[in-house]
Amino acid sequence: MKKKYKLSNGKEIPSLGFGTFRLKEEVEDILKKSLKVGYRLIDTAASYQNEEYVGKALKSAEINREDLFITGKLWNDSRDFEKIVSSCKETLKKLNLEYLDLYLVHWPASSALYPNWKEINANVWKTMEYLYEQGLVKSIGVSNFKKSQLEALMTTAKIKPMVNQIEFHIGFMQQETLEYCQNNNILVEAWSPCGGGKLLKKDIIKNMAEKYNVSPAKLCLRWCVEHNVIPITKSSHEERMIENFNLDDFEITEEDMKILDSQPFIGGYGFDSETITIFN
Ligand SMILES: NC(=O)c1ccc[n+]([C@@H]2O[C@H](COP(=O)([O-])OP(=O)(O)OC[C@H]3O[C@@H](n4cnc5c(N)ncnc54)[C@H](OP(=O)(O)O)[C@@H]3O)[C@@H](O)[C@H]2O)c1
Repeated sequence: MKKKYKLSNGKEIPSLGFGTFRLKEEVEDILKKSLKVGYRLIDTAASYQNEEYVGKALKSAEINREDLFITGKLWNDSRDFEKIVSSCKETLKKLNLEYLDLYLVHWPASSALYPNWKEINANVWKTMEYLYEQGLVKSIGVSNFKKSQLEALMTTAKIKPMVNQIEFHIGFMQQETLEYCQNNNILVEAWSPCGGGKLLKKDIIKNMAEKYNVSPAKLCLRWCVEHNVIPITKSSHEERMIENFNLDDFEITEEDMKILDSQPFIGGYGFDSETITIFN
């Protein structure tokens, strides 16, 4: 994918990302392969507990820092100023980087658990703005924020989130949040664009992929691209990394997009950030 998007602060971001969730020390080797294939947007998080290995892979790849786009995420156990700043610095240290290209609030405080969720999220965001102003992070954003949570954040934010990384795949496109983000110049990234792999076995996806002569994974990833959403893909297999990397070689027709857009939930996680209690 050669295309790049421009974030609301003018910074460029690659249109395809590579994720590192559920990978521990093996991430070093996997990431080295993905960087060799050409991925430049790398997505990690403090909660994945693999930042040191990601850092090692980045170092040994010997790619110019300005050609990489590294995303980190702030975990939910850090919601006051001191903790947020030290968590960000810890991430930088582990990744062996001087700055992050993008730092995301991993999850909003949910209304299900916190009566003062608006205040918590507003305060976290204030510190994200501080990190941005200090230059430790070149862009800031959120993850798993629904429209209502973004609207609340916007009432106090000095700087608008530049990105919202959400679960986004066929059967779970979070239309309301997608529209809100796109109307407010917040770029959307898709986590689990293949529904964590579950969509790849569904007949509707397999049959349509066959029609386009592509793999089910490519169909799922291209569907994100057609929506101007950045897919954060992940595979431990080099041949799949290569396959997923080129999404420019076909387009999905409007008619087929309508069919895919109207799918009910057919696989993935389907978390609701307002009611979720497991991570908060
Ligand atoms: N912000 C958040 O809260 C959040 C939450 C979850 C994930 N994420 C991010 O999103 C990234 C991607 O999530 P995900 O891993 O669930 O993504 P996904 O692309 O939906 O699923 C990945 C699975 O699909 C398989 N796969 C990928 N390409 C394939 C292909 N061409 N052919 C066959 N199978 C293929 C992989 O298997 P193999 O590895 O065996 O090839 C893997 O099991 C994560 O790594 C993480 O960085 C963020």
